[in-house]
Amino acid sequence: MTMAQQPQTIKPAEGKLGILLVGLGAVSTTFVAGVEAVRRGLAKPIGSYTQMGTIRLGKRTEHNTPLVKDFVPLASLEDLVFGAWDLFPDNAYESAIKAGVLDRTLVDSLKDSLSALKPWTAAFDPNYVKRLSSTHVKKGSKMEWAEQIMEDIRKFQETTGAKRLSMIWCGSTEVFMTQKDCHKTLAAFEKALKDSDPAIAPSMIYAYAALKMGVPYANGAPNLTTDIPALIELANETQSPLSGKDFKTGQTLMKTILAPGLKARELGISGWYSTNILGNRDGEVLDDPESFKTKEESKLSVLDTILHPELHPDLYGNIYHKVCINYYPPRGDNKEGWDNIDIFGWLGYPMQIKVNFLCRDSILAAPLVLDLVLFMDLAKRSGLKGIQEWLSFYYKAPLVGPGLYPEHNLFTQEMKLQNTLRYLMGETQITHLGMDYYQ
Ligand SMILES: NC(=O)c1ccc[n+]([C@@H]2O[C@H](COP(=O)([O-])OP(=O)(O)OC[C@H]3O[C@@H](n4cnc5c(N)ncnc54)[C@H](O)[C@@H]3O)[C@@H](O)[C@H]2O)c1
Repeated sequence: MTMAQQPQTIKPAEGKLGILLVGLGAVSTTFVAGVEAVRRGLAKPIGSYTQMGTIRLGKRTEHNTPLVKDFVPLASLEDLVFGAWDLFPDNAYESAIKAGVLDRTLVDSLKDSLSALKPWTAAFDPNYVKRLSSTHVKKGSKMEWAEQIMEDIRKFQETTGAKRLSMIWCGSTEVFMTQKDCHKTLAAFEKALKDSDPAIAPSMIYAYAALKMGVPYANGAPNLTTDIPALIELANETQSPLSGKDFKTGQTLMKTILAPGLKARELGISGWYSTNILGNRDGEVLDDPESFKTKEESKLSVLDTILHPELHPDLYGNIYHKVCINYYPPRGDNKEGWDNIDIFGWLGYPMQIKVNFLCRDSILAAPLVLDLVLFMDLAKRSGLKGIQEWLSFYYKAPLVGPGLYPEHNLFTQEMKLQNTLRYLMGETQITHLGMDYYQ
């Protein structure tokens, strides 16, 4: 173990925390309904590290393993209030019914609070999400959209009394975009906003509005959004935390659990074929090749930095990695993923692993939303600004600082998350060396 640090100064989690959800679809409504069900004692927050997880402190002989929520000062579930934007005017009750993730009886039992969550008009343009269109949208230039979002947020704070805020993108996956000149500096970005430049996607406008107000922004989709110098500059200027991108659930979660194990045993991989069927609105959006490309880039990126083929050409130098998503309406939110992994062992003898994961997308994503909004609020109160790499644990394509490669190994990400919490609280880092037990 290394020496303990001075604890960081962390402002207390006093008063209400306003959760700003961009998109009020399957993931958002499963999250909000879940928080409400847990508050009422109807269910447990399974899958949430902040609510159910523990953290070991000190030596193993000390037997000191508190719950995370007792160790770090997080906002309590009782103090959360919700606001949302969507291009469909359905309230959270109607949207949860349409999403069809949760049992109708549970959703009906929460109807009073879910119906009260009505989305504000969206900053939306169908050029960025080709399969959707609506009239519940903002008007004017892109800079005016940003101003209207900030106005929505100010009114929300007045009516709810929220003392602090945390914004998270749970909206659709936008078309594939790459960095342009107007993304390089904040000044160029603001000019492009005023000019309604096509290089500014709606997700960037929400992120800009949040960061401008000093509000943390987390990106649950694979959109380019904050992976641009202009918004990182703004985040640093306004002391706002940023994290992303693309919730790590389902197939990619399994991939980043399995690949580190195969790698640890020096087993070779010649192919990894992944395919999915899903039938929710997300599946419909991803049926558009331009939105799928954004997702594909995010899903394909994970193996390289776990396996490091450049260091292990004999084992991983020639992997055929393929990812497919097929929209299949009968399956709804209950996605089915198949993985075929061709591996080889001692003397090159081939073997196969088949994984058939019958998962529930939004059930896996909702606890991630909860952890992220709470940890992003903790980051803000702790004075952490800009990219929060310690939250890589939650993402398929983690945001990292310039010159760094992202860590995709789930267990490295877990250790990084836990050591960051120990660091914030002035506890010793755990290295798992353990020589001192035998001296
Ligand atoms: N569920 C998972 O396991 C998972 C994992 C990784 C990423 N994601 C991503 O999370 C996002 C949400 O997933 P979902 O299943 O809830 O999708 P969904 O389609 O049910 O909900 C997305 C909502 O966002 C709204 N929206 C789109 N553009 C918007 C805009 N500009 N402003 C406001 N609202 C907007 C849509 O109208 C829709 O209601 C998707 O991008 C998805 O790819 C989900």
